[in-house]
Amino acid sequence: MPTMNNTRQGIGDADIVQSLEQLYPVLNHKHYTPGWHKARPSLWQEPHTPYTPRQWRYAEARNLIDQAARWIGTEQAERRNLLMFNPVGDNDYASLPNLVSAYQMLCPGEHARAHRHTPNALRLILDAQEEVYTVVDGVQLPMEPGDVLLTPGWTWHSHFNNGKHDACWIDFLDVPLVHRLESMFFEPHPEHFQAVEEAPVTSLLRFSAADQQALLDSAPDVEGVRSVRLATPSMRTIALTVHQLQAKASMPMRRDSASRMFAVITGGGRLQVDGESFACQRGDLVAVPIWKFHQFIADTNTRLLQVSDEPVQKTLGFFREETAK
Ligand SMILES: [Fe+2]
Repeated sequence: MPTMNNTRQGIGDADIVQSLEQLYPVLNHKHYTPGWHKARPSLWQEPHTPYTPRQWRYAEARNLIDQAARWIGTEQAERRNLLMFNPVGDNDYASLPNLVSAYQMLCPGEHARAHRHTPNALRLILDAQEEVYTVVDGVQLPMEPGDVLLTPGWTWHSHFNNGKHDACWIDFLDVPLVHRLESMFFEPHPEHFQAVEEAPVTSLLRFSAADQQALLDSAPDVEGVRSVRLATPSMRTIALTVHQLQAKASMPMRRDSASRMFAVITGGGRLQVDGESFACQRGDLVAVPIWKFHQFIADTNTRLLQVSDEPVQKTLGFFREETAK
C-alpha cells in the first residue's frame, strides 16, 4: 500500500494503488492536483473578492503621521508614509489587489531621496504651501493642494520641502500588481538626489487644480456631474478620472470589473458601496473592490479623484460594466 514516504513512488506507482482514495495522496506527494478533486474552485460565475470596501480618514492619518514624525525623519525612512492596507489574510500592504495608497508627510527642510522602480506612482497633494516640489527625471514639479503628479515606472523621483510648513499628500501605486507579476526592479539614486535640470511651467506629469478645472469645464454636465479622464499615456496600468459634483448631485450607481479608490480633493459627501455608506471629507479615501455597486452623493460642491486598475482589465480583455437598473 503506498504511503507519502514510500520510496517506490514514481512512474508506475498507479499500478499498485487499489482505489482513487489511495491515488490522491500519491498525486499530492508528486505535486499534482486532480482537476476533479480540488479543495477550492478555480472558476466562478462573476468576480468576487476577499477585499472589502474600506475607508481611511485624512484627519486620523494626519494625527498619526504627525506623531510618527517625532521619531521618523527622511534620514531614517526612504519615505515617511502610512500605507492603507485592507485586512485580508496576512496582507499588511495592499489597499486593493493591484493598488496601494498611502498618506505621506514631509516636514520643513526635509528631502526624500531619489529612487526609481518599475511600479508606477502618482500623488494627490492635500496640504502644501511654499517651496514644496517633486523632481521627476530632473524636472521640478510644484506640489500644490489639489495637484495630481505622476511618477511613471522607472523615472527617478524625489520630494523636497524647502518651506516652513508640513506638506502632506496621498500616494497611489501599482506595487501590488507588480508583486503579483514579480517584475519588481528598484534602484536608489547613486548620488541620493538628482540635479534639477529644468522647471517647466507645464508638464505632462502634473495636472494642477487649474488644469483639472479647465478640463472639467469642457466636459458635459450630466445632472450636476462633470467627469474627465486625465491623459496619462506614461502610465499603462492606472486610470485617473476627476469628477466634479454640484452640491446634492450624485453619480450613477454602477459597477465594473476594475478595482478603484476615490479620494476627496475638495468638498464632501458620501460614497455608497454595496449597501454601506462612507461619509467622506477632504483627503479621505475609500477603496472599492471589484464588481461592487457604488455611487458618490455630494453634500457640497465636491471634486473627487478616482484611481483604478481599469487599463489592466481592459488591456487583457477582462473588463465588463453594469449600471444599476
Ligand atoms: Fe518611489
